Amino acid sequence: MLLSEGVHHVLETFHAPLKKDLPIVLSLAEKVARVHGDVHGELIRILEIVQSFAFEMQDHLKKEENVLFPLMLELDALAKTGEKPAFHCGSVGNPIRRMHVEHGDFDAMFSELRSLTNGFIPPEDACKSYEALFFLLRKMDGELSLHAAYEEETLFSEAMKKESACLEK
Ligand SMILES: [Fe+2]
Ligand SMILES: [Fe+2]
Repeated sequence: MLLSEGVHHVLETFHAPLKKDLPIVLSLAEKVARVHGDVHGELIRILEIVQSFAFEMQDHLKKEENVLFPLMLELDALAKTGEKPAFHCGSVGNPIRRMHVEHGDFDAMFSELRSLTNGFIPPEDACKSYEALFFLLRKMDGELSLHAAYEEETLFSEAMKKESACLEK
């Protein structure tokens, strides 16, 4: 498999929609916590998690796009020429392990959001913004699982295999 195809898939299918959703979910979480936080105290914690998630996810996307994915494109090129990789970070496995830890952090955030929101089901007295927030969080939760699973099980594991194959030549 060409790693560049996997990188392209991740950018189009997961990173682009996530970048659009992050500012929207942040502003909805702020608004809903401000309006309903006195009656539904859990909205304050939901806002805190959404703020950390947005901040850490932006950083995660940058690390993948600026550090890890360029190494993958380089591995495609090295596999063609037969040259051995000599990465500045040692091995592609190092940034991959870091991304794996961060995927676990995101998973923990969404599992707390799932329990705070009763599985993203808005309460009876929810307004349109409240419903929109829960709807978007549910969508992001589903996409995040697919995103991390594709990276871990397909893209990252193919990159590790390709690096080993280049080193064995
Ligand atoms: Fe990603
Ligand atoms: Fe990732």
